[in-house]
Amino acid sequence: MPSPDGPVDGGAARKAALRMLDAVLRRGQTMDNAAQAARGLPPADAALASAIAGETLRRLPDLDALIDGATRQNLPDDSKARMVLRLALAQKIGLGTPDHALVATALPLVDGGPRRLVHGVLGALLRKGLPAIDAPRLPETVETRWRAAWGDEVVAAARHAIAHRPSLDLSFASDAACDGFGEGISLAPRHRRLDHHGAITDLSGFNDGQWWVQDLAASLPARLVPATAGNVLDACAAPGGKTMQLAAAGHQVTALDRSESRLARLSDNLRRTGLQADTVAADALDWTPQTAFGAVLLDAPCSATGTFRRHPEVLYRARAAIVEESAELQARLLGRAAEWVKPGGSLVYAVCSLEPQEGEDRIEEFLAARPDYRIEPAPALVDGVTPHSRGWLRVLPGMIESRGGLDGFFTAHLVRTA
Ligand SMILES: C[S@@+](CC[C@H](N)C(=O)[O-])C[C@H]1O[C@@H](n2cnc3c(N)ncnc32)[C@H](O)[C@@H]1O
Repeated sequence: MPSPDGPVDGGAARKAALRMLDAVLRRGQTMDNAAQAARGLPPADAALASAIAGETLRRLPDLDALIDGATRQNLPDDSKARMVLRLALAQKIGLGTPDHALVATALPLVDGGPRRLVHGVLGALLRKGLPAIDAPRLPETVETRWRAAWGDEVVAAARHAIAHRPSLDLSFASDAACDGFGEGISLAPRHRRLDHHGAITDLSGFNDGQWWVQDLAASLPARLVPATAGNVLDACAAPGGKTMQLAAAGHQVTALDRSESRLARLSDNLRRTGLQADTVAADALDWTPQTAFGAVLLDAPCSATGTFRRHPEVLYRARAAIVEESAELQARLLGRAAEWVKPGGSLVYAVCSLEPQEGEDRIEEFLAARPDYRIEPAPALVDGVTPHSRGWLRVLPGMIESRGGLDGFFTAHLVRTA
């Protein structure tokens, strides 16, 4: 084992990874925001920093168990020593980093007594040999919640899913572009799934704006909007995956979002794909449209726990209080959106969440309060995602696992009857 004072390789990337982990776990930031910690680094180092922080978050409870099994010292959750050990072990288990590089890059991140402690714990664990951790545990609170909601099998599938990099799903602006793309498998119209982990700008058709990246599950709500809807409001639209689907399907789309910066990304996406939509920067809780819509798609802000495969940090941010707060906002947004639908029109509700409070419970509560709405039973849009007997689509970990799985999702199609 190299000395604690040995040469440092990739030190800047590890320092950035440490700052990212701190931003996510202590300050509750998203990984996208935390990635600012790598600003100014060469792209390869920034990518390494994100990969290390991401692997750490995927396996955190198991890494902590390894650490606690190797020392009698009680290392507080946010102590530098624990953070550095987590990063080092994640690199070994998730990225296959050689032992000498692990030790040489971990030790300079801590000083004094903690450095000796890190050296000792890491050395002991590496000498013993580390397990593979193919199905990492999720945070206990999340496992308890999901076990109660969905059962043991779904928790086991989620453990499996979080350890594996999801494939890349593309949505296409036209059937012809999708058919002509040639690569990957297609699991729904205008969809291709690829095993591609490099830059998306390298894929054919990017510059022509023929496609955009969108998990297949996230493409389901726009597929529920009837072809005859006409004018459609995308009520929480940015960055615009569903707006582009709706525009590409021939609807006259109004895309509303309260975030100007996210709306700017939506406009960039429309420019790249050559698709059309009117954009409105406004808070849906205050805004009132001048005319009613044939359909309103409400892709509501949520805990986003369904996206844990790509964004493992959501599991640490989505505490029970956050889920409750989201559910309350969703109920208010649903109440507003319901007023903007023409009689006979559609309200499609969606959340990328695995929490029933943000999906099933919202719709049951809405239907109980709004006798002027009924559920339109969703069709089976993807083989392996069977519509629920209540008519909505609930996508869970484990579904179509052999074809690469899906993000967790919920969507329901409501029709205004009066
Ligand atoms: C789940 S994301 C939407 C993703 C988008 N539909 C897509 O497919 O690309 C939720 C969006 O709701 C927006 N939002 C949150 N609260 C809002 C409100 N009160 N009024 C309007 N937009 C809101 C957020 O800025 C965010 O862009």
